[in-house]
Amino acid sequence: MINSRIAGTGSYLPTKILSNKVLETMVDTTDEWIFTRTGIRQRHISSSDEMTSDLAAHAAKKAIASAGINAADIDLIIVATTTPDKVFPSVATMVQQKLGISNNCPALDMQAVCSGFVYGLSTADNFIKAGANKCVLVVGADTMSKITDYTDRGNCILWGDGAGAVILQTSQEPGVISTHLHANGNYEAMLHVPRNAEGPDTIAMEGNAVFKMAVNTLDQIVDETLAANNMQKSDIDWLVPHQANIRILKATAKKLNMAMDKVVVTVDKHGNTSAASIPLALDVAVQDGRIKRGDVILMEAFGGGFTWGSALVKY
Ligand code: COA
Repeated sequence: MINSRIAGTGSYLPTKILSNKVLETMVDTTDEWIFTRTGIRQRHISSSDEMTSDLAAHAAKKAIASAGINAADIDLIIVATTTPDKVFPSVATMVQQKLGISNNCPALDMQAVCSGFVYGLSTADNFIKAGANKCVLVVGADTMSKITDYTDRGNCILWGDGAGAVILQTSQEPGVISTHLHANGNYEAMLHVPRNAEGPDTIAMEGNAVFKMAVNTLDQIVDETLAANNMQKSDIDWLVPHQANIRILKATAKKLNMAMDKVVVTVDKHGNTSAASIPLALDVAVQDGRIKRGDVILMEAFGGGFTWGSALVKY
C-alpha cells in the first residue's frame, strides 16, 4: 500500500505585531481579561498590501526547502483558507504562480474555516494513497484581520494572520496514519461572515456557544481517532491542536491525560490564525526540536460550519 509522510514543514508570520496592550487602546478591554479568557498575548497582522497568497507562498518556500525538493516536483497544490485574495482565482493558483511552478499541476483552495488544514491534509493523503499524486503542497493560510471588526471586543481580540505549509510525499512507512473529517451545517449562524451588497462583512460569532461546542466536539474526535487505530491515549507523543483558546486546548489535553508540555501552544503569540494555526504550530515545534522523526502527533481542529476533524500522523 502507498503511504504519505510529511517530508518538510514551513511557516510565515507578518512582521507587524498587535499586542493586547495596543488593543486596550482600541476597545474596552484589558490585557489581563484577554490573557485569562483566551491565553492570547499578541497576534501578527498583515499590512494592507500583504495578501493571503503572499503569506502562503512564503511558508511554502520554507516547506519546499525543508523537504529538500524542487518546487517543480510538486504535483498538487492545496491551500486551506477562508480569506482568499480574490473571489477567484484560487489562492492555490496564485501560490503556484509565486513559486514559479510551470508544470500545470492542479491547484485548489479548500474552505473549511479553522478545520481547513486538516481537511487539506486528509485530501492530499487520500490523493497520494489513491496513486494520483506523489508530492503535494498543503498550505493553511489566513489573513483574519481583513475580516475582523476592530470595534467588537468579544471577537477582535482572538484573530491573527499567518501561514503554515507541509510537503506530503509518498513513502513506504505510514506517516499520515488516519484522518477523520466531519461537518454539521445546522450551526452556520453561530460563527460566520455574512456577505452584504458591498461584499464580505466581518466575523460574527456567539463566542460562548462556540466554545462549548468546540470542547464537546473535540472530546469526541479524540475518542474516534484513538478507537479507529486501536490506540491508547499514552501512544500520542504530541498534541498539535488548532489554536483557538488556551482553555479549549487544556480541555483536550485533559481528555488525553496529557501534560501541557506535550501540547504545542502558539495561541499566546499567534492568536487564532484559522487554517494556518496547525501547520504554524507544527513548524514551530519541528524547528525548535521538540517534535522529532518517529513521534506520533494528533492534530485536531474545529471551525465554522461547523466543521471539525483530526489527523493522526507519525512524523
Ligand atoms: N474585554 C473585556 N470584557 C469582555 C471582552 C473583552 N475583550 N469581551 C467580552 N467581554 C465581557 C462580556 O461583555 C461579558 O460581560 P457581562 O458579563 O457584563 O455581560 C463578559 O466579558 C463575559 O463574556 P463571555 O462572552 O461570556 O466571555 P467568555 O468567557 O465566553 O469569553 C471568548 C469570550 C470569545 C473569549 C470565548 O467565548 C471563546 O474563546 N469562545 C470560542 C471562540 C472561538 O474559539 N472561535 C473560533 C472557533 S475556531
